[in-house]
Amino acid sequence: MTSYSKILGTGGYLPEEIRTNEQISETVDTSDSWIFERTGIKSRRIAAPHETAASMAEIAARQAIEAANCDPDEIDLIIVATGTPEYVYPSTACLLQQRLGNKNAAAFDIQAACSGSIYALSIVDQFIKSGSAKKALIVGTEICSRIVDWTDRGTCILFGDGAGALLIGASNEAGVLSTHIHADGEFEELLYCRNSQIASIDSQDEEIGFINMRGNEVFKVAVNTLGRIVDETLEANKMAKEEIDWLVPHQANIRIIMATAKKLKMSMDQVVVTLENQGNTSSASVLLAFNEAVRDGRIKRGQVVLLEAFGAGFTWGSALIKY
Ligand code: ACO
Repeated sequence: MTSYSKILGTGGYLPEEIRTNEQISETVDTSDSWIFERTGIKSRRIAAPHETAASMAEIAARQAIEAANCDPDEIDLIIVATGTPEYVYPSTACLLQQRLGNKNAAAFDIQAACSGSIYALSIVDQFIKSGSAKKALIVGTEICSRIVDWTDRGTCILFGDGAGALLIGASNEAGVLSTHIHADGEFEELLYCRNSQIASIDSQDEEIGFINMRGNEVFKVAVNTLGRIVDETLEANKMAKEEIDWLVPHQANIRIIMATAKKLKMSMDQVVVTLENQGNTSSASVLLAFNEAVRDGRIKRGQVVLLEAFGAGFTWGSALIKY
């Protein structure tokens, strides 16, 4: 009897252009040292004009499919997490399905901001455990650079572009042990990006179309909330902190990541950090970090990995995995 969803392959894509803190400091009142000390970020990738959420998703997805040694037609579920889709419809998942030449999958997008990859993993896990899907593709893909106000020093220093992917299959071996997803819509005002074409016509918001964030307040809620989800995950699995081999956190701010590692009593050597050269790639960040650590041999088969994320909504979530 199949009882688990197992990660069969991973993939990632980062656009070629690197935008450094120094370059940002030429246009807004900030500095490399301020950005690095407050966030841990040195540079981020910026998508080329011809790139889209779907084109980046395709590259990451093909890598994951190849790593899983699977035929694209075997995939029966495609979920794309993105806050920067090119189209209102069709979904980026349908665009990706067409690019992959797949005809057999159900395909849809989800929107849970930076928690999108964890939400997608949780949905896929339910589909696989119930027998409704056998092979599922999850992609987080973001062109944050196109919704960032490059004159706002409070946000433009944080975000970057990229795509990450997981190919997941039904298995008898332990894989996803548990997922936990939550939301609290009360915090809309602290972090939002209002759609410029669809927003109510009486809206006077001059920030429309761009990420708008009260960073300091978001920071405090993020640290507290992620602390709580760590406890919830360990408790659900009756697991001790010491049993976790790796933490793969959402890459928003090194100080938030360090607070979560401290809560887990984990050394930073057991934490996968990519934000120094990628910034916050929103729904792609956990998947990109996971892919990097699998490909460079840090995360090994059989190890226990905790994934977690926090984002606009607010949304947050975690997944405990035996890789
Ligand atoms: N360069 C120099 N000074 C700056 C900059 C900058 N880039 N940005 C802000 N400042 C100034 C502020 O104006 C303020 O000045 P003041 O004291 O004269 O008023 C001072 O620095 C302190 O500002 P804070 O906002 O309190 O700075 P903080 O230490 O909180 O760092 C940051 C800001 C990096 C944005 C941090 O709050 C953060 O990372 N927040 C969390 C972001 C996050 O996790 N988002 C969730 C996920 S994103 C998603 O879901 C889409």
